[in-house]
Amino acid sequence: MKNHNGSPRLNHHHPANHTRDRNGRRGDWLWAVWLRFSLRDYGFCMAALLLFSLGSLFYQLNGGPPRLLLDMRQYLGESTFMDDHGPPVQKVLPFPSQVIYNRVGKCGSRTVVLLLRILAEKHQFNLVSSDIHNKTRLTKHEQVDLMKNISTIPQPFLYTRHVHFLNFTRFRMEQPVYINIIRDPINRFLSNYFFRRFGDWRGEQNHLIRTPRMKDDERYLDINVCILENFPECTNPRLFYIVPYFCGQHPQCREPGEWALERAKQNVMENFLLVGILEELEDVLLLLERLLPHYFSDVLTIYHSPAFWKVGNLTGTVKKHMPTLEALQVLYRRMRYEYDFYNFVRDQFHLVKKKIGLKSTHTSSVRELDFLRELALQTNDPLDEDDEDEEDDTALEDANNWLVQP
Ligand SMILES: *[C@@H]1O[C@H](CO)[C@@H](O)[C@H](O)[C@H]1NC(C)=O
Ligand SMILES: *[C@@H]1O[C@H](CO)[C@@H](O)[C@H](O)[C@H]1NC(C)=O
Ligand SMILES: *[C@@H]1O[C@H](CO)[C@@H](O)[C@H](O)[C@H]1NC(C)=O
Ligand SMILES: *[C@@H]1O[C@H](CO)[C@@H](O)[C@H](O)[C@H]1NC(C)=O
Repeated sequence: MKNHNGSPRLNHHHPANHTRDRNGRRGDWLWAVWLRFSLRDYGFCMAALLLFSLGSLFYQLNGGPPRLLLDMRQYLGESTFMDDHGPPVQKVLPFPSQVIYNRVGKCGSRTVVLLLRILAEKHQFNLVSSDIHNKTRLTKHEQVDLMKNISTIPQPFLYTRHVHFLNFTRFRMEQPVYINIIRDPINRFLSNYFFRRFGDWRGEQNHLIRTPRMKDDERYLDINVCILENFPECTNPRLFYIVPYFCGQHPQCREPGEWALERAKQNVMENFLLVGILEELEDVLLLLERLLPHYFSDVLTIYHSPAFWKVGNLTGTVKKHMPTLEALQVLYRRMRYEYDFYNFVRDQFHLVKKKIGLKSTHTSSVRELDFLRELALQTNDPLDEDDEDEEDDTALEDANNWLVQP
């Protein structure tokens, strides 16, 4: 490349010298050479510019630099309060063209997917939203198939599905940028508990379609009984729900414990551009707008428009009742890993907000029993509709049989 650029320029000197001997008229010669050189240089300059533009375009079309974004995210996440006075954070970052939102059930993803539909049309990216809602763990072959499928989607794309983290690197594929949203684990659990039984705005009969085989004893099971009498639905491993989405497809990712927790945290730092919390959804959208402008520009305008809420039918909720304080405490203890993870994600999220210059609306973090009391006072929440069905236990066992060999 270097030689190529250099040689025509060197050759060019010889004709120029000849011209001097022949003409003798210094002024004309200078003018001619200057013209020729400047034309030549102008040509070089334009060629270089064109090359650079093409390269940059190719670079962006070809996956962009997710590494850079992740570095930025890591910088935002790991730096301390002290560097707040450092150089200001870049507002617009180069955009990655492969994004995965491996949405967690009952964490407001219905709302986000609806927003994405509108955004995809507006900003011309490919939105692929899988309608498989009950298969979050895959066999090794299913993983490879799915990752191959995902990487053939024309870029820029955003792929979304209820699925535990897929490790593209492990199969020597380019790792897309991940984003996600989680919420308070007990609230998520309650939301799912009542959703499975009584559906949502889609009507009174919705649950009969959703869980037709559920018997009345189960449907009308008092949640306190479920928790205090250790029904499977209200104990581990079923309560270990959010962490596996971030830990990955390894079987140990489904075992409530330190290993899965640590791996999930590390993965958040390494592969997720942003993990937001539903409790601060507007700030999540604002940050997404800043970090992924080619996907999320104007998301807040859309989110605030009455038409969006009307079309989305997002206002109806199912009346749910709160478990007793005693039951909540039991639940809280059972979900300690989930809470450890949630608190970690929330702290990271607040750090990113601070870095980007957003003020946290939730400055004092409510912890432990105070938080439980507060939770017990909350009624319902318009954002918890989702299209997720719980996997049944046979599926769980099947999924546990996969692999062993890497
Ligand atoms: C991959 O895409 C093809 C065609 O779009 C589809 O038939 C197949 O089910 C997909 N595979 C997976 C694992 O999603
Ligand atoms: C992904 O796979 C790579 C290569 O096998 C491995 O080094 C890395 O730890 C894995 N990450 C996760 C989160 O599973
Ligand atoms: C919104 O809900 C109403 C009933 O509340 C239903 O008739 C309508 O079809 C729903 N709209 C959409 C887009 O799902
Ligand atoms: C998932 O849901 C589909 C229908 O939506 C059903 O046919 C399939 O059996 C379910 N799979 C599992 C593992 O529950």
